[in-house]
Amino acid sequence: MASTPRTTPRTPPVTVRASAKVNLALGVGPRAEDGFHPLATVFEAVGLHDTITAGPRDDDVIAVTVEGPEADLVPTDESNLAYRAAELLRSRCADPHLGVDLHITKSIPVAGGMAGGSADAAGALLACSVLWDIDAGPGDLHDLAAELGSDVPFALIGGVALGRGRGDRLVPVIFRGTHHWVFATSEEGLSTPAVYRRFDELGGGGGDLVPTALIAALTRGDIDAVAGGLGNDLQEAALDLRPELAGVLEAGVEAGAMAGLISGSGPTVAFLVGGEAIGRTVAKTLRTLPQVSSVRGARGPAQGAQLMAGTLEAGS
Ligand code: C5P
Repeated sequence: MASTPRTTPRTPPVTVRASAKVNLALGVGPRAEDGFHPLATVFEAVGLHDTITAGPRDDDVIAVTVEGPEADLVPTDESNLAYRAAELLRSRCADPHLGVDLHITKSIPVAGGMAGGSADAAGALLACSVLWDIDAGPGDLHDLAAELGSDVPFALIGGVALGRGRGDRLVPVIFRGTHHWVFATSEEGLSTPAVYRRFDELGGGGGDLVPTALIAALTRGDIDAVAGGLGNDLQEAALDLRPELAGVLEAGVEAGAMAGLISGSGPTVAFLVGGEAIGRTVAKTLRTLPQVSSVRGARGPAQGAQLMAGTLEAGS
């Protein structure tokens, strides 16, 4: 990767939009020696978005600011995944004296199992690579993304994809049609490592077998078969840590959802619904539950991290 740093304080800010994800299937094998679990997962990007703006600085500071209803839950120091993404990109591909103002407008639930932090990291990688004029191709960005976290590579590509390994070895999946989702979030997040630990304690799951029937259903656009193929090996562990989520799953399905499952490591509960009208009915029911902090509707599949129109000056 070559780079010709040309950023000056007059370089216009670059904004990228990045999507949340839901795992339609999450098959988890036994813990490997490196501490990670081999996965066979089908990711779907959904239309809940964060935006990440990278603005130029005339010093070498990486500064992070966050806005949005859950902004106070997001760290702005070096532990922020967007900060780490900018730092990693700079250390590998750019002038170490370059700085950036990263501003995140957060809409994806925090610590909710929807890869919000990973979306911000993917957005920061893309935005900084443009701001700093780095000659990095998709393969280069993918490798950096995989270093930052298991879900970051998918956040770059979006759509629907099969993920193996830690979830970072990706193959896009052909899909037909649109999926309507309702997401019920909880006040308090769940730690992904804690959920994997409980998964181990409970004796593991079904293993990392590729869900071929689900992939076939996605390609045919057979929504009933997609609903029937949803599954999450981490669900038992997440429910063990948060038993009150079982009532959320039940209520959503009783209210008319085709299927419900814990999203990733939770605690967000995802419901696939037959359309927007029934989605509104399901959402109304879920909003009455004391263990649900907010309810959001979204469509999938959505795009991966993308530059937003109007953020680059013409000809720059
Ligand atoms: O890579 P990521 O930041 O998403 O992983 C967070 C934690 O989740 C890891 O440190 C590990 O404890 C657990 N994990 C795992 N197996 C995976 C992915 C994540 O055990 N395939």
